Amino acid sequence: MIERNITKIAENVYWVGARDWNRRLFDALISLPKGTAYNAYLIMSRNGKALIDTVNPGFEKELEEKIRSLTSPEEIDYVIMNHAEPDHAGAIPHMLRVAPKAKLVTTSRGEKMARVFYNVPQERIKVVGENETISLGDKTLRFIEAPMLHWPETMFTYLEEDKILFPCDFFGSHLAGGVYSDEVEDLLVHAQRYWGEIMMPFRAMAQKALQKIANLEVRIIAPSHGPIHRKPELILNAYNRWAAGETRPKATIAYVSMWNSTDAIVRQMAETLATEGIELAFHNLAMTDVGDLAKDLVDSRAIVLGAPTVLGGAHPLAVYTTYLFKALRPPTRFAVLLSSYGWGGGAIKHIQELLGQFKIEVVGTLEINGPPTEENMRQIVNIGRALAKKIREEA
Ligand code: FEO
Repeated sequence: MIERNITKIAENVYWVGARDWNRRLFDALISLPKGTAYNAYLIMSRNGKALIDTVNPGFEKELEEKIRSLTSPEEIDYVIMNHAEPDHAGAIPHMLRVAPKAKLVTTSRGEKMARVFYNVPQERIKVVGENETISLGDKTLRFIEAPMLHWPETMFTYLEEDKILFPCDFFGSHLAGGVYSDEVEDLLVHAQRYWGEIMMPFRAMAQKALQKIANLEVRIIAPSHGPIHRKPELILNAYNRWAAGETRPKATIAYVSMWNSTDAIVRQMAETLATEGIELAFHNLAMTDVGDLAKDLVDSRAIVLGAPTVLGGAHPLAVYTTYLFKALRPPTRFAVLLSSYGWGGGAIKHIQELLGQFKIEVVGTLEINGPPTEENMRQIVNIGRALAKKIREEA
């Protein structure tokens, strides 16, 4: 048999997932500069064997071969579907074919998804509820419902004897490489980006899930993407901060400019905020990466949106960004809106309409005609100082 990479993470518990080094796009939205991994885990016990999650379509044979290097798939009793999204559940039809006695274990909401997405026959589905357990002999699986993290059916699986939490997407990062998170130098940067892209819109549900597991003794967190956390405090502390919406004295500047006028006022705003001691993240929307922007929104206390008027409204890149900003639901408290127009304005009004009822305090706006005058620059300095004051007072 061809050698396959597997990792033993505890006695009779193995990582049997796949590394997708070349993947660069997820959901036709999220860029993956470092690829990703689809983590699946095989648990072998005296009286039973269970596979926790599967892999993305295209990696079925790789998963099967890894399992075969440890045991015969015919001996698998349970395939646990913590989450129905195809990057983890896409190989379920294959696995249920090669593991003919295996039952698919899922939540009541996952049951319908298993039938709709993967044509799993009813008789092969075992629905589990909150805190229900399955004994494999000397290993026990406990199921913890974690709805909307980030689909309705999501759940965590807890391996009681080894104190391993398998939370599927939660606590993940899109990294193809890296086995253990404490060995990955910039793990938190990637985890923050992933949180911003995937989990941030569901902060309330994340807080509920974190409360549920707060009293659970967890030795290892084994997510479905990225490295495994054998020192869980690091990622748990970060998730507690992010779910609570803790921000830093930081402003994210997101802007687009056509003929450098919006650029000039945005740069002056950056100068003023920096002078006031505010940490800055600077994103030119014509070239920035959406994932980087999402990462910065996780802990920014303010956003500065800059956009010229074009075609009767805000520049389309700013329209897209405002929409995304609302959808990601960051904990941002303050906003400043800046714009320049050639012969007819309207961008700021357009952005304010797009923001609608989104709970954010607009500290200042400035819409100028053409390049900024010295008076415009003084106005920007004043708005910047007011914003900095708000940011500092919020601490
Ligand atoms: Fe990694 Fe929501 O799937």
